[in-house]
Amino acid sequence: MDIIRNTNAISEWGASRRRQGSTIGFVPTMGALHQGHLDLIRQAKSDGHSVVCSIFVNPLQFNDPNDLANYPVRIEEDRRLLEKVGCDALFLPERENLFKGFEPERFDLGSLDEFWEGPIRPGHFQGVVNVVQRLFSFVRPDKAYFGEKDRQQLTIIQWVAKQRRWPESIIPCPTVRENDGLALSSRNLRLNQLERDAAPVLFQALTTIANNAFDTPVAVCLAMGRSIMEKEPLTSLEYLGIAHPETLEPLRAWPSSVGAIALIAARLGSVRLIDNLFLSNPRA
Ligand code: PAJ
Repeated sequence: MDIIRNTNAISEWGASRRRQGSTIGFVPTMGALHQGHLDLIRQAKSDGHSVVCSIFVNPLQFNDPNDLANYPVRIEEDRRLLEKVGCDALFLPERENLFKGFEPERFDLGSLDEFWEGPIRPGHFQGVVNVVQRLFSFVRPDKAYFGEKDRQQLTIIQWVAKQRRWPESIIPCPTVRENDGLALSSRNLRLNQLERDAAPVLFQALTTIANNAFDTPVAVCLAMGRSIMEKEPLTSLEYLGIAHPETLEPLRAWPSSVGAIALIAARLGSVRLIDNLFLSNPRA
């Protein structure tokens, strides 16, 4: 695997792969890689691309300086994991290099950042979209792979890509989970044993909603999910809701669309976890 730190060098790397007839698949990350990230690489590989993974802890998307300072950095281990799954290039830009001559812009996100994570993390999605556009401008991938784990991020990037007519196709990839349902996340490493044992309750709340979706009224489904969360005293629920799959607007009644999304965020001690599940509409 090639390790590339410079923005011009990654553009050149892509150009040379293209001259050899290859397409470029791109997986942007912030490192501390786990099987969820590696699945995105595997997906890109199995689609036949030369695959670039970037690791860049993006300061623009952190509204809490403590969260940025504490973000885990494990480049050596990440490098080994990427080698194992056959990633072709690891792009490790320095902040000064990536942001040289760069003024973040304000993107129109429709109303997609008005709900869920948006109000809790002001400016977060602007920071994400800015860095994704910046990374794309150097990597110039054909396809870029994003996890459904961060459903709102994925939806926003798909929406901006369409609005701005970005040439890159955005490919959604399913959430990878532990056997007990807990969605893999770099933050799971910060849970103590008791918190780790309690953490699958988020997934249990979501699956209970999924099992009753479209048959039982939305409010009743949400009450069932909340009562599951309340039985676990270590968790403090931030939100649990059901949203339209495209606009992410909170729903009070089941839509006629192909499905809906249940979204949850909760704290366990100092660790904040998010998860979501697609609820399919049997009548659509
Ligand atoms: P990061 O949190 O490192 O995640 C990188 C990618 O991995 C994202 O597309 C995320 O949705 C995906 N991912 C994380 N956990 C996953 C899981 N359990 N299953 C499947 N996919 C999973 O998301 C970011 O970084 C940043 O916001 C970024 C897009 C890199 C911009 O800075």
